[in-house]
Amino acid sequence: MIDAFHKHFGPTQRPRVYRAPGRVNLIGEHTDYNLGFVLPVALNLATFIAAAPSGDGKLRIYSEDRQELREFDASSLGSVERTGQWTDYPVGVAQELVHAGMAIEGANLLIRSTVPDGSGLSSSAALEVSSALALLGGREFAPLELAKLCQRAERNFVGMPCGIMDQYISVFGRAHSAVEIDCRSLGHRLVKLPEGITFIAVNTMVKHALSGSAYRDRVKECAAAVEGIAAVYPDVQSLRDVSPEQFEGVASRLPDVVARRARHVVTEDARVNRFTEASAQGDAAGMGKLMVESHRSLQHDYEVSCAELDFLVDAALGIDGVYGSRMTGGGFGGCTVTLLHAEAAASFQASIARAYAQEFGVTPRVYSCEPSEGAGEVNNLETIPSLA
Ligand code: GLA
Repeated sequence: MIDAFHKHFGPTQRPRVYRAPGRVNLIGEHTDYNLGFVLPVALNLATFIAAAPSGDGKLRIYSEDRQELREFDASSLGSVERTGQWTDYPVGVAQELVHAGMAIEGANLLIRSTVPDGSGLSSSAALEVSSALALLGGREFAPLELAKLCQRAERNFVGMPCGIMDQYISVFGRAHSAVEIDCRSLGHRLVKLPEGITFIAVNTMVKHALSGSAYRDRVKECAAAVEGIAAVYPDVQSLRDVSPEQFEGVASRLPDVVARRARHVVTEDARVNRFTEASAQGDAAGMGKLMVESHRSLQHDYEVSCAELDFLVDAALGIDGVYGSRMTGGGFGGCTVTLLHAEAAASFQASIARAYAQEFGVTPRVYSCEPSEGAGEVNNLETIPSLA
């Protein structure tokens, strides 16, 4: 990666390299912007950025994936507008850093990523967080503020009204652990996973065009549910405040679609808590059951699944050693995550790939979800993956 950097920006500079991981969410979907609970793990798939000052007031960003070089005047980043391209992520982050009082001097950046785009494994957050670290260039910045700043970049500049999960886990991920995030207090705790199990993500290889607009619709539908419920319970400020029992008492007062969206969120929050308890007890079967309930709720009540995701879940449930499976991330394509006996991993991968290829004519990519550390500077350059 250093050689590639020298090739693009000249041989004299010594770049520093920063890494930010993608994530897979085990359970707690579409709960983050409702200020509830999520349980992601940071992956060993990550975005790496080699960065050094440019010395000439220019911000140059080279993406190895796209083989594209983009150049900006560092002093006028504030007036750059959204383009709908990959550069929106680093530029949005740069603008937020400037707002936060961190001046951006010229810099040369080279980006390498192993997080597949559009896969629901949060390549955007990995790009945002690694960009923030690269643009900070070693300057101190509180980790929680970093996650929030990257979320603001996505909301304000990219235009996606996302919750905090993806940026948070990219910053706070921990090897060998899942991380339960309380999206209201923004605190977290590490959740130990049982021995002898593993999680595998399977990529549908599709991302339906609906995903952006449907996400915005869901955010609005949840706000409508809060409004309706607050008419009965004035203390309710978000769906986080509503228990499943309370919800059933008011559900009939809400329009059908709004009620189903809210039912998903309210029951999903409860499932996260039951899942962490099952995990603490080493109850893989119980965890798997909750994952399937989560999927059915996303499929029928929240309506963010699709035929490809449903197929992968149903097919996984028929394979030996599988405890549970569900879609992960925003939905409408991307990946499922499956919990299974560690020893069944190899045969699962082969079986699921065969089944999916037979049904859809596409071979799905499969990723082993090894819980990994969150973002930071890379001190051992040997750990940087070479180009695929
Ligand atoms: C996307 C968003 C997250 C979260 C998930 C759904 O990944 O970026 O904030 O809302 O969808 O759980």
